[in-house]
Amino acid sequence: MSDFMLFLHFIGLAVWLGSLVMVAVLLTLLKKQVGEGEQKIVRTVIRVFNMLSHPAAFLVLISGFGMLGMDSGHEGKGMPFWLTYMRDVGTTIIVLSMIVLSILGTKVVNKKPEPGEPAFRKDKLATFLTVELVVIGLILSVLLIASFRF
Ligand code: HEM
Repeated sequence: MSDFMLFLHFIGLAVWLGSLVMVAVLLTLLKKQVGEGEQKIVRTVIRVFNMLSHPAAFLVLISGFGMLGMDSGHEGKGMPFWLTYMRDVGTTIIVLSMIVLSILGTKVVNKKPEPGEPAFRKDKLATFLTVELVVIGLILSVLLIASFRF
């Protein structure tokens, strides 16, 4: 069962990190374009990103705590640093990124644009992308620490 949880952990991680990288690349390319077609794509990209990324991040969280709950050997003094870091930093990134990126995502999209107004706000898009890059960096730091098993 714990092996299956680890499998779910990896699936969630792949979809979560994959969608973050994909959306960062796509939005960086699209924000330079100003045509109406691109504006609609930006809205769709953010909507699809929210649908994929947040459930995947939640899966990483649930499967992680599921594994910890099943294997009591990890609890207490015997828990290695990399796992403590993963649990604490991982939980913080997941919870904060879900909240912050959801709020920012709604601010990027201009729901009722006046004629001639863009369908997304460029300044908010820049903030959205910066937060994404920070989240990607923090995920990579967890992966680095887990790989070296510090
Ligand atoms: C940024 C988020 C996270 C990333 C990138 C991540 C990555 C990983 C990786 C790569 C492994 C395999 C390590 C190995 O077996 O050598 C792993 C295992 C594990 N993760 Fe995470 N994880 C994250 C969040 C969490 C969270 C929030 C928890 C919750 C407590 C958690 C708990 C675990 C547990 C218990 C294992 C199995 C450890 C073992 O016994 O080998 N992870 N994770």
